[in-house]
Amino acid sequence: MRVLVTGGAGFIGSNLVWSLLSGGHEVGIIDDLSTGSFGNVHPAAWFRTLDITGPALADAVSEFGPDVVVHLAAQTSVPASLKDPELDRLVNVEGTRAVARAARAAGARRMLSASSAAVYGQPVAVPLIEESEKHPCNPYGESKLEAESVIAAELRGSGTDFASLRFANVYGPRQDWRGEGGVVAIFTAQMNAKKAPIIYGSGQQTRDFIYVGDIVGAIEAALEVDGALALDGADGPAYNISTGLEVNLEELASALRLTVGYYGPIEHAEAREGDIGRSALDPTKANERLGWSAVAPLETGLGRTATWLAREQ
Ligand SMILES: NC(=O)c1ccc[n+]([C@@H]2O[C@H](COP(=O)([O-])OP(=O)(O)OC[C@H]3O[C@@H](n4cnc5c(N)ncnc54)[C@H](O)[C@@H]3O)[C@@H](O)[C@H]2O)c1
Repeated sequence: MRVLVTGGAGFIGSNLVWSLLSGGHEVGIIDDLSTGSFGNVHPAAWFRTLDITGPALADAVSEFGPDVVVHLAAQTSVPASLKDPELDRLVNVEGTRAVARAARAAGARRMLSASSAAVYGQPVAVPLIEESEKHPCNPYGESKLEAESVIAAELRGSGTDFASLRFANVYGPRQDWRGEGGVVAIFTAQMNAKKAPIIYGSGQQTRDFIYVGDIVGAIEAALEVDGALALDGADGPAYNISTGLEVNLEELASALRLTVGYYGPIEHAEAREGDIGRSALDPTKANERLGWSAVAPLETGLGRTATWLAREQ
């Protein structure tokens, strides 16, 4: 299959590209390298450095001629979305619209797009199902939610099937640990360097941590599904890609201590405004429709992340 991955030089994208190529697929990458890196670009992949919001996108997509487009390119930082909501919306909403139009014009059979747990905002009850209420608490969550409707508006009724995959908290090798990286990458890097990690708030706040290899597995399963993934209704094309398990930050820090061999202190600081109290996404729909479930135990995923980071940092 010919698979075009936008954002293929980033954390999730590069893990996906490596796996697709080893599975015998032909892979194209479009990435502007704004947060991704050239070092992440697999040498066997077709690659164009370009901005999805720019004028060169449609020609590049039709030049590659994908069977499926996996759209991962995005402005992914919540603080950056608060600082510059217009830029966030430009990339995440208008960029997604441009990718959907280009996928359709190029005759792609399907478009899979990365959405996020951030679309739900502060949950009323967990685990969240796809139809749960959505009150995103920052411009990033808002733009991810709007992008889902934009894809539906562009592609429903066309020959291009589509799905929005709402990823939980993804962690694993190649995640940024310096700036806006996820808590797993930041804590692991700090513990590797024998620096005390800081837990903001009580430490009882929970997240649904999912290993990047499981995200790759979900995308690969979604590529292959026969029949439509874009079911009827607003949340019909949406799929939670998650473990369904809640792990609190104290538990995460304890598991990481054992993995890394860090026996120093863990610091505590005041809760940050807007921090989500509990989060877990019910993956039943993806289990049933994609024939996929997350398989990596937290300890295994943390071990792989720590080994990778120890080499890189
Ligand atoms: N990492 C997570 O925990 C998580 C959770 C939920 C959803 N997601 C979503 O998964 C996707 C991938 O995220 P990631 O964690 O790999 O982030 P990432 O920043 O590592 O990857 C994003 C990639 O997109 C590229 N990009 C950004 N703007 C672009 C533009 N205008 N044109 C072309 N390329 C552009 C970047 O250079 C980068 O390579 C994103 O859509 C993100 O919103 C991630």
